[in-house]
Amino acid sequence: MNNSSILDREIPLCNLDDLEKRQAIELDINGRRLFAVRQEDQLYAYWNICPHLGIPLNWMPDRFLDLEGTLIQCSSHGALFQIDDGECIAGPCSGDRLMSVVLRREERMFYVAANQSMPAAPINLREQALADLEDN
Ligand code: FES
Repeated sequence: MNNSSILDREIPLCNLDDLEKRQAIELDINGRRLFAVRQEDQLYAYWNICPHLGIPLNWMPDRFLDLEGTLIQCSSHGALFQIDDGECIAGPCSGDRLMSVVLRREERMFYVAANQSMPAAPINLREQALADLEDN
């Protein structure tokens, strides 16, 4: 089922200073999850979907980076992505890219820009397993 859609309004994401102490910030928009990572004075945002299996990248809230804090790392099979362009440089989806989220900046405040397409909601294996149990 393809349930992609267009984001029809701008949504506040965060102030740059909110990301001084943590790795990233997550946001849920109608079941589609995105995250943003700060690098220097810029924010890079992606939909939280690993190109390998189409599942969320993280297991822990707001944790998306490798031990060195220099690359985005998928928790499932360890794929590594560049922060500034989302390209996978190692792992099972090498050469693929994370889907970027368009942001609008107003001084130090960032917003998820309106009028951009949102991906289909990611596969939720837990919900799927519970639904399967109820069917049986
Ligand atoms: S699901 Fe991300 S590397 Fe496999």
